[in-house]
Amino acid sequence: MDVVHATSEPITALRNKDLLGIASLSPGEIVLILNTAEAMKEVGQRAIKKVPTLRGRTVVNLFFEPSTRTRTSFEIAEKRLSADTLNVAIASSSVVKGETLVDTALNIEAMAPSMIVLRHSSSGACHLLSRICRAAIINAGDGMHEHPTQALLDAFTIRERKGRIADLKIAIVGDLLHSRVLRSNILLLTKLGAQVWVCGPPTLIPRGIETLGVRVTTSVDAAVEDADVVMMLRIQLERMEGGFFPSVREYFATFGMTQARVARAKDDVIIMHPGPINRGVEIASEVADGPFSVILDQVANGVAVRMAVLYLLAGGAEHETAA
Ligand code: CP
Repeated sequence: MDVVHATSEPITALRNKDLLGIASLSPGEIVLILNTAEAMKEVGQRAIKKVPTLRGRTVVNLFFEPSTRTRTSFEIAEKRLSADTLNVAIASSSVVKGETLVDTALNIEAMAPSMIVLRHSSSGACHLLSRICRAAIINAGDGMHEHPTQALLDAFTIRERKGRIADLKIAIVGDLLHSRVLRSNILLLTKLGAQVWVCGPPTLIPRGIETLGVRVTTSVDAAVEDADVVMMLRIQLERMEGGFFPSVREYFATFGMTQARVARAKDDVIIMHPGPINRGVEIASEVADGPFSVILDQVANGVAVRMAVLYLLAGGAEHETAA
């Protein structure tokens, strides 16, 4: 039985004011978010894709690193929930004059937003703001630490396609060392009972990763063999100064996901990638655009999952009763 459905007491609210990572979520809270996202997905299929849930609440999107999917889908999610939403353009903000993250956050906080969605290059930046801000802090990716909403939308997509997460063989292949997506996914998928395999070149495998309850291999064939899910991770060239592997061509030859490698997995395997994709580096275009790919489903589901997170952090049904 799926661990998702095995918790005795149904959870109806999140315990913490912030979403800082998967580490602080219980299996029941994860299931609550996934179930709530199913209802939010239905909102996105209506002719009028808007509900009044967050009317009168202000959400600030504060992205210190580039983003296409996360920032856009948070903004769409906020608008679908009728929040007043604001994107701080870091390049034209006082950050370029040297204002610190803490001072930036305190000044935004002074204008009384309900929530701040933060992406930052420093691991722990969200934890720092959570201690000084009354607003709920949502981690949209902090350094090499966590990217919780990515893992939640990945889990939502897996559950939607496979009907469960427990006991699935999930192979995660690529740049393990620099990936906050990997860390959040390992935490989430093992909490829900999946068998997680991780694979990459020895230089890109974090020391001690096996203590997180995953199988570690440098053989893509072993990782992909009979897998239900293959999740490719981007080679994060911007976080490398070179020397992690001889060349992009060699990396693709040894670790790239090709149709021949996909054929080793289960017949109904799904191929995932959080994006952005490096075509011909970690994944062949025929695979990224092929029949097993759910990469754009992941993006679509990101809106529903982020709506669920915003709704639940705003108090969920309790907030609606009080309104
Ligand atoms: N997956 C992801 O975080 O993509 P972005 O960097 O475009 O937000």
